[in-house]
Amino acid sequence: MRIVLASSEAVPFSKTGGLADVASALPKALAHVGHDVFLITPYYPQVIQKNAGGNHLLIEPTGLSVHVPVGPKHVEGRILKSTLPGSRVTVYLIDQPIYFDRSGLYVEHDQDYRDNSERFIFFSRAVMEATRVLGLNPDIVHANDWQTGLVPALFEIEYRGQPGFENTASIFTIHNMAFQGQFWHWDMLLTGLDWKYFNWRQMECYGHLNLLKTGISFADLVTTVSPTYSREIQTPEFGCGLNGALSSRHDDLFGILNGVDTEVWNPATDPHLTKTYSVSSLSDGKAECKAALQKRLGLPERPNVMLIGSISRMTHQKGYQLIEQCSHMLLDQDVQFVFLGSGEPRFEDMLLKMASDHRSKVATTIGYDEALSHQIEAGSDAFLMPSEFEPCGLNQMYSLIYGTVPIVRGVGGLADSVIDASDENLANRSANGFSFREFRSDVLFWNICRARAMYAEKQKWNQLQQTGMKRDWSWKRSAAEYLHLYERAVNKRSQQSQDNTR
Ligand code: ADP
Ligand code: GLC
Repeated sequence: MRIVLASSEAVPFSKTGGLADVASALPKALAHVGHDVFLITPYYPQVIQKNAGGNHLLIEPTGLSVHVPVGPKHVEGRILKSTLPGSRVTVYLIDQPIYFDRSGLYVEHDQDYRDNSERFIFFSRAVMEATRVLGLNPDIVHANDWQTGLVPALFEIEYRGQPGFENTASIFTIHNMAFQGQFWHWDMLLTGLDWKYFNWRQMECYGHLNLLKTGISFADLVTTVSPTYSREIQTPEFGCGLNGALSSRHDDLFGILNGVDTEVWNPATDPHLTKTYSVSSLSDGKAECKAALQKRLGLPERPNVMLIGSISRMTHQKGYQLIEQCSHMLLDQDVQFVFLGSGEPRFEDMLLKMASDHRSKVATTIGYDEALSHQIEAGSDAFLMPSEFEPCGLNQMYSLIYGTVPIVRGVGGLADSVIDASDENLANRSANGFSFREFRSDVLFWNICRARAMYAEKQKWNQLQQTGMKRDWSWKRSAAEYLHLYERAVNKRSQQSQDNTR
C-alpha cells in the first residue's frame, strides 16, 4: 500500500508528546513490512536544531513548492525531504518560516500562538497539495489530531476522484479529545471551504469552528489510540462535548493500542543506561541502573527502598492533583520519588517544594530530558500514572518493557495495558502492575501502599516484572491492525464509488 501520514510533530524532528512518537514509529513499522510510507510534517527550524542535539539530520530541498490559499492570501510552502533514521520512510517537511520558524510548536510562554488555526489550516492544505505535486498516489491519507483535522475534509470536498486520488481513502486518528482546535467561526473563511459545511454535523461546534470534529466527520474511518478510549469517548464523561459526533460514527470508529518503538526503548540495547539488561539479567541490571539514578539525582543510594518514577507533562490530565492531595501521606512512607516533566506552574512548584523539603525522598527535574527519561524507566522499581484520562499512554508500556511495575488509574490505554495484581490475576499470571478505577487520592495512596507491600515479597514482584517484560509491546501488532483498517477503508471507498456509478 501507499500511505501518506500527516502529523504536526514527529520524532526526531519535533515532539511535545506521544503523538510525535507514534507519527514516526507507525510509519517505520509499516515500511518494515513492505509498504510505501510518506510522512508529511512541518519544518520547525528552531525546534529541529534543539531536538537533533548532536545528531545530524539530513534535510534537503526537493526544489518543489506548494502554493495554497489561506483565506484571502496565497501562501507558499517549500517542500524539503529527509528520511526517518533507520528506515526507508520518506519524510517531507513543509517549510514556511512565517508559520513555523518559532521556538515552540503550538505554545510560547504558556500562551497558544494566536494564529494556530491559520498555521494548521495552511499545513493541512499543504499536505494535500504536496501529495498531489509529488505524485504520491496514496491508497490512504492518514491524518492525526486537530492540527490535520482539515485534511479529511479537503480530501472529500476538493481532491476526491482527482488525478492521483482515484483510489484514495482517508483515516483520522484521535490522540486526545482534550485538544480540539476550536476557533471562532470567522476562521471558517481561512479554510476556503463553503459555509454550508459549517453545520453541527460537520465543522461547527457550539458556534465555533472545530477542526477535531471536522476530521471525525469527514474521514472514511476514525481511529483512536486504545480500544477502551474508543468506548469512553462516546460518553459525556470522556467525550469532551463531541461524544454525540463520535457515537454517530460508531460503526466507523476503532481503537488500536499504540505500540512501542523497541529500537528506542529496549533495556538490552539502550545507550543511555549504565548497564543494559534483559529478562535474564533483570535484577543485577536494574540494581545498577537504580544506583546510578539515585546518584545522578542526589538521592541516598539505598538498594532496598522502593523508588517510584514519573515522567510526564505536568497537567491535570496526568492526575498530579491526586499526588498533591496525598503528598503528606506519601512523604511519611519510606519510599523515594523521581519526577521529570514540565507543565502547569502549580504542579511544577508543588513537586519542586516536595523535593526541597524532603531531599532524601524526592528528586524533581523540571524540563525535557530524553536521556534522564530512559534512566528513570530503567532505574525505578515502580512507575506512577494516575491519569484522569489517558487515550493510550506510552510510559506505562516503556515501564513494562523495562521491568518497572506501573501503578495506574485504569482508564483508556492504561486499562488496556496494565493488569492489576489481584489474587486472581496473580494466580493466572496475567498481572503486570497495579490498576485502580476511582479517581481519588486515598485510592491512589492505598495502591502505592499495596505496591510497596508486594515489593517486599520479591517472588511476586519478580513475577509482575517478568509478565510485563515478556509480552510483545512492539508496533508489529498495532501496525497489522492499522493495515487491516486501511484495507477496510479502501474497500469501503471502492464500494461507494461502485454504488455511485450504478
Ligand atoms: P502524552 O502524549 O499525553 O504527553 P504519552 O505517554 O503518550 O503522553 O507520551 C509522552 C511522551 O513524552 C513519552 O515518550 C515520554 O517519555 C515523553 N516525555 C514527556 N515528558 C518528558 C520529559 N520531561 N522528558 C523526556 N521525555 C518526556
Ligand atoms: C496523546 C495522549 C496519550 C497518547 C498519545 C499518543 O497525547 O494523551 O495518551 O499515548 O497521544 O497516541
